[in-house]
Amino acid sequence: MIFILQRPTKPITIAPDYAALCDLVAERIAALVREKPGAVLGLATGSTPLGVYDRLVSAAQDNGLDFSGVTCFNLDEYFPMSADSPHSYHHFMQQNLFRRIRCRRWFVPDGAPRSEAEVAQSCLEYEAAIREVGGIDLQLLGIGRSGHIGFNEPGSPPDSRTRLVSLHQKTREDAAASFGGLSAVPAQAVSMGIGTILEAREILLMASGAGKAEIVRAAWTGESAESLPASWVRSHPNARLYLDTAAAQAFS
Ligand code: PGA
Repeated sequence: MIFILQRPTKPITIAPDYAALCDLVAERIAALVREKPGAVLGLATGSTPLGVYDRLVSAAQDNGLDFSGVTCFNLDEYFPMSADSPHSYHHFMQQNLFRRIRCRRWFVPDGAPRSEAEVAQSCLEYEAAIREVGGIDLQLLGIGRSGHIGFNEPGSPPDSRTRLVSLHQKTREDAAASFGGLSAVPAQAVSMGIGTILEAREILLMASGAGKAEIVRAAWTGESAESLPASWVRSHPNARLYLDTAAAQAFS
């Protein structure tokens, strides 16, 4: 059974399990794409949205959901990281979504190895590209154990823009297995800023599993603060938290 928790401050949708959570999030994204075929989506990587992408692929392949007019901007990319590396988020998005649907315009921040000045220039261009298409209609977010959204780690200001950032120790530890060891995980990344994220017209923050329960509760109940980047999402007028029961356990 799906239920809506009205407290503590903003409604939270709680699904019985991960599969039902992904159904709900994918249904909201699909509804937007049907309603607005030229929609601009902000997308996330990580294990949490994988089931959502599977459902969007099925909706495209089996039910004709049309992504050909949709533009997508991803939140972040490791730095330094070539787009064609199997560790890149560019590769992740290609494998898990874009090689399986017809979407002509999708962008991931560029983590190509180069000078900080060149990275800063490409960050400005990423922001300009988002503005040029009229801004993001719907931003999908996960939450890291550090409380990050995108790679905005604790200490990121709420008005931050796309930029080079340093990764939190917990974030690097969580990525270590997929890189074959902590020392292989990049120390930096390029991330959309919190200010960029908060300009999206709608935000879906999703979390699954008991490992996220405490950080999600802290983000959704305390004061918004730089020490917990996800807490800024609550201040957004059209943000919704989507959890499975394991991730929601700290609210009860
Ligand atoms: P995860 O990552 O989905 O792999 O838990 C979430 C995040 O770091 O934002």
